[in-house]
Amino acid sequence: MKPDAVLGLATGESPIGTYKQLIEWYNKGDLDFSEIHTVNLDEYKGLSPENPQSYAYYMSTNLLNHVNIPKENTNIPNGLEDDSEVECARYDNILHSLGGIDLQLLGIGGNGHIGFNEPGNNFNKETHCVTLTENTIQANARFFDSIDDVPKYAYTMGIKNIMQAKGILLIASGAAKAQALYDSFYGPITPSVPGSILQLHNNVTVIADEAALSIILKEHEITPGGHIK
Ligand code: F6R
Repeated sequence: MKPDAVLGLATGESPIGTYKQLIEWYNKGDLDFSEIHTVNLDEYKGLSPENPQSYAYYMSTNLLNHVNIPKENTNIPNGLEDDSEVECARYDNILHSLGGIDLQLLGIGGNGHIGFNEPGNNFNKETHCVTLTENTIQANARFFDSIDDVPKYAYTMGIKNIMQAKGILLIASGAAKAQALYDSFYGPITPSVPGSILQLHNNVTVIADEAALSIILKEHEITPGGHIK
């Protein structure tokens, strides 16, 4: 609906169906990405865009190679920049110069992380370098040959960048997300559950399957398809 939108994008399993749908609509001629700009949430530190485990590679193969987004309009933190201060300042400049994100797509970690903002991380941060938690390293190990190959650091947009997006679309599926989803939207707002900050955003849409919603549905005695207050 907004041909020159700035889209904040996520990687992982959650948005795969969304990207397939966007490609399908593009192939049908219903969507034009020629004026779209994209900014990705995060990237592993130390991985090149050619590394199949990098988020840059994921974005190329799952979306960017299949639609007409000009390459120069796409942005992702540079995993090969060793100097965190330089890279984070560069990325925040891009975010600011684009005038903010129109729609930020989010997944959520089983521990409640959004982007790579892990539990305990300060809410008031822009792009920064994080040390990944053991929980996240284990969750991501399935994509690597061995757990030792999983990078220990990542660049991520901060909660502050995410909260400045005009709209947020969070996608969650599977029972492994049930507790995180419940804690994020029905628990206290606390850095121990990074997703809980979304309670303070005024335009969040959550798309989740029954398994991911199971605790919320049970606690509130709501049948699937029913309205959740
Ligand atoms: C990905 C990202 C992460 C994932 C989250 C869920 O760019 O920032 O926060 O959204 O770890 O991952 P999946 O969708 O693989 O369960």
